[in-house]
Amino acid sequence: MVRVAVVQNDPLFGERSRNIADALALMSASPADVYVLPELFATGYNFADRSEAAALAEPFASGETYDAMQSFARQHHAVVVYGFPEQSGDAVFNSAALIAPDGLSGLYRKIHLFDREKLLFMPGDLPFKVWDTTFGKIGVMVCFDWYFPESARTLTLRGAQLLAHPSNLVLPNCPDSMPVRCRENRVFAATANRVGTEERGGVKLTYIGQSQITGARGEILARASLDHAEVLVRELDLNLADDKRLAGHNDLIGDRRPEFYA
Ligand code: ACM
Repeated sequence: MVRVAVVQNDPLFGERSRNIADALALMSASPADVYVLPELFATGYNFADRSEAAALAEPFASGETYDAMQSFARQHHAVVVYGFPEQSGDAVFNSAALIAPDGLSGLYRKIHLFDREKLLFMPGDLPFKVWDTTFGKIGVMVCFDWYFPESARTLTLRGAQLLAHPSNLVLPNCPDSMPVRCRENRVFAATANRVGTEERGGVKLTYIGQSQITGARGEILARASLDHAEVLVRELDLNLADDKRLAGHNDLIGDRRPEFYA
């Protein structure tokens, strides 16, 4: 069994050190094997423009956020997945990192950008990827990626048992929709969202909380509050995601007819 945690935080825009410390305090108080944090969890989300996003961006595999999460992963022998604005040359991506205690670290760049993110970030240019960690096979997608069934399906076809899903949800639909993504793919999902409101540059966004751990048969195993920082942990048997049989004569993956899908 693997203890999976969704870390629902309440960051203050631009206060990176403070937001990291708050997240680490939440995580330290909730023992788990895999921690999933929200999209852009340490910086805030509602950037006024591209230069603001660039000013708070960090390169992958270094910087304050990476160092803090790597040392937590090592000390607590845990996998940590979190979202951050990634500086890569002149480009800024809305990225997520996966850090494992054995030194493995992986990068995902959000493929489906939501709304004004298109003005702020470069669209992801790396394929969906699954990392084979000591705790299970973990695929990463970020927030709005859920709206495209191809994201969860691609990660499933690549062997994911758990979808780690850092999010900053503002639309109401995701918590009730993830059960379908999980049911149709027979995968678990850990959707970590933030709470709070950010009003900047004339744009006001309220994040809907309700971080969720969803079972491979579409069960809602845990759902957090609308408006409080908190961590939810559930013990999951991720191996259940490997059995794609449905009814006597069906297999969710084996019965696909891709020749009719183009
Ligand atoms: C979102 O993709 N942050 C809504």
